[in-house]
Amino acid sequence: MKITIIGAGNVGASCASLLSQKDIVREIVLLDVKEKFAEGKSLDISQMLSIVGSNTHVVGVTNDYSKSKNSEIIIITCGIPRKPGMSRDDLVNTNAKIIHNATKKSIFFSPKAKLIIVSNPLDVMAYVSFLTSKVDSSRVIGMAGILDSVRYRYFLSKKLNCSSHDIQSLLLGGHGETMVPLYRYTSISGIPIREFLSKEKNQEIIEKTKKGGEQIVNLLGTSAWMAPSASVVQMVESILKNSKRIFSCSVFLKGEYGLKNVYLGVPVILGKSGVEKIIELQLNKEERDLLKNSANHIKNMMKELKLNDINF
Ligand code: NAI
Ligand code: 2OP
Repeated sequence: MKITIIGAGNVGASCASLLSQKDIVREIVLLDVKEKFAEGKSLDISQMLSIVGSNTHVVGVTNDYSKSKNSEIIIITCGIPRKPGMSRDDLVNTNAKIIHNATKKSIFFSPKAKLIIVSNPLDVMAYVSFLTSKVDSSRVIGMAGILDSVRYRYFLSKKLNCSSHDIQSLLLGGHGETMVPLYRYTSISGIPIREFLSKEKNQEIIEKTKKGGEQIVNLLGTSAWMAPSASVVQMVESILKNSKRIFSCSVFLKGEYGLKNVYLGVPVILGKSGVEKIIELQLNKEERDLLKNSANHIKNMMKELKLNDINF
């Protein structure tokens, strides 16, 4: 089993590190455009692995996509991250070109691969990768919902002084301010959240969650990577082990939830084929309106894409 990670920066290297420690893949190829960077990162990770007791082989390469040949999964983390004062949307056209190039080259060498997109603005980059790859949309999946959900659960656990492990939550919509964590679908060990927290108080937690990424950007001067990479690894494991776990992922909608031609976060079953099923919930009017608003936000960002500049 071989996995390729494009972009050996904070998220990419951290994905390589976490994944290699699990000892579930034979080889991880870490690729970056920056000369010798991925080589250095992979050497450091490889030397750690004998302490951890993993036999995963981690290889770093500078821009040589031929080394990614026949990968099962390609994780795309390349691009520029957010700086303080910069929104995810500011990144759109710079990262679109980078993601297009990375997708085109990786799918050429691994035509059967599933693609997990991480680069921002997430939902639009997943769409660019899908257009470029020309593969079935079940194989091009954006990571955001798992991260946004863990942030929501983290803030809830702090508020309620309980373990975040016991919190179940579901989150829909785009990665950003228009995300839609669902109060009705949140529970603690099966007990509905309304038994612990009013809808109004929960809304304060939702607002904090929406600012969760920005909070870290303001503290670190760059965006988060630990929780994002752990989120990617959960997706990889569910695909590789065919565990069919249910996660919110950004996927291409073809009429589900009354929406189409847009990548958006919805609950899906992840298995060996990628997205094996999109789960459609019976939303109430308030939830439907919030989801529609989120989809409109993503669609507006898609309009910013200069697709003619990209050679599909
Ligand atoms: P980083 O700057 O640490 O790493 C990005 C890497 O991409 C750099 O090493 C850079 O040399 C490389 N790169 C740039 N152009 C490339 C190209 N054409 N080919 C190959 N490599 C190239 O950034 P970080 O923190 O790893 O973030 C990566 C992306 O992930 C950003 O767009 C960020 O906004 C996004 N992100 C998304 C999250 C999500 O929830 N979906 C969470 C965290 C980050
Ligand atoms: C995050 O939410 C920047 O999208 C990244 O941390």
